Amino acid sequence: METPHQNHIDKADFDHVYEPAEDSFLLIDAIEKDLENLRSRNPALCLEVGSGSGVVVTAFGMAFPSTFCISTDINFRACIMSKKTAEYNKVIFDSVRMDLASSFVDNIFDIIIFNPPYVVTDSEECGGDDITASWAGGVKGREVTDRLLEMIPKKLAKDGTFYLLLIEENIPDEVINIMSNHGFRYKTVVRRKVRNEQQIVLKFYRLIY
Ligand SMILES: C[S@@+](CC[C@H](N)C(=O)[O-])C[C@H]1O[C@@H](n2cnc3c(N)ncnc32)[C@H](O)[C@@H]1O
Repeated sequence: METPHQNHIDKADFDHVYEPAEDSFLLIDAIEKDLENLRSRNPALCLEVGSGSGVVVTAFGMAFPSTFCISTDINFRACIMSKKTAEYNKVIFDSVRMDLASSFVDNIFDIIIFNPPYVVTDSEECGGDDITASWAGGVKGREVTDRLLEMIPKKLAKDGTFYLLLIEENIPDEVINIMSNHGFRYKTVVRRKVRNEQQIVLKFYRLIY
């Protein structure tokens, strides 16, 4: 997969919006690793929740030109930057300021992708709408992620796939348990140690008979 160009972004803009980092690129690597499977399913609609600069959803859109891509972010500046990144890379795309995926109708997305704010912090730090929202994850670094986990069964198409990046401190086994209680199976797509952080991308899907 191609990495989207970012020459349109002023470095100072990253004071306000999450700058693409190893986790962003691990998510792109995970999608690349799953490319054949994804191509065979020909997804019509892809949502990235919390798109920040927009590099992940744009990379997806570049690899799947006939998939309509959309993203949300709680940080309005991130929505603008995501839209510019997509436009700069000639991807047809839209971005909306929204809490997670709360305002979409049910069962529409073939693919949902999330690189959440995963750093363990006090609850009070979590839940803003500025650059802090990029990383502050509250208890277990999971407060934002756990809210999305409750939305996934409704927002994902019945045969859809959800890609989620986590770190060890988020206790991935608990996430797997929550999703299993919602009827989802999982696979580990990639894992990588970055400095002292063990990053992992899981994918969740239902068995359709
Ligand atoms: C770790 S950054 C990831 C950014 C980008 N997806 C990437 O991989 O480079 C997390 C993103 O989630 C957004 N975010 C945090 N809480 C959110 C919420 N409740 N709803 C939507 N987006 C949220 C942040 O503003 C930030 O852009």
